[in-house]
Amino acid sequence: MDSGRRIALTGFMGVGKSSVARHLSAIAKCDRLDLDAFIERNTGRTIADIIRNDGEPAYRAIETENLVSALRETNARILSLGGGTWTIPANRALINDQGVTTVWLESTFEHCWTNISKSRKERPLAKNKEAAKHLFDSRQGIYCLADWHFIVRPEFTSYEIATQIAEQVFS
Ligand code: S3P
Repeated sequence: MDSGRRIALTGFMGVGKSSVARHLSAIAKCDRLDLDAFIERNTGRTIADIIRNDGEPAYRAIETENLVSALRETNARILSLGGGTWTIPANRALINDQGVTTVWLESTFEHCWTNISKSRKERPLAKNKEAAKHLFDSRQGIYCLADWHFIVRPEFTSYEIATQIAEQVFS
């Protein structure tokens, strides 16, 4: 396996970025960082609380600050981004400037929505199906700027997807 490469997983809410990252870091035997969890640890607040009380622009500023720290100050080689991180041009520039390989986990809206509905994670930007679908449609053209695309089908496990990524991206 390529020992120096860092990869960042992007894709819509509910696609399974965090679970795939967990398996990928186990397969590749390297550290991982979940950007949402990193933000929550550093701020002592939940992301839902930040977005609801401070608004999305304030949240995006915090997200970018934390992305800078995650990229510069940690050894994590597998990063799972929040669903909106890659959609911000400044974040894409930071990620690309650091030579991080980006992987889009692509799936259907229905699959993501099923997972969002079942999940206990609070997602203020996906309050209802219409709002989530609108966001999903508006982001497809940006996610596709990632270096690699992997199709996530409901019948695939996170472990299987992580294995595919390890075989192809790390080979
Ligand atoms: C967001 C996705 C969330 C979280 C925040 C905003 C988005 O992460 O970062 O609620 O803009 O799509 P997940 O994709 O892990 O749910």
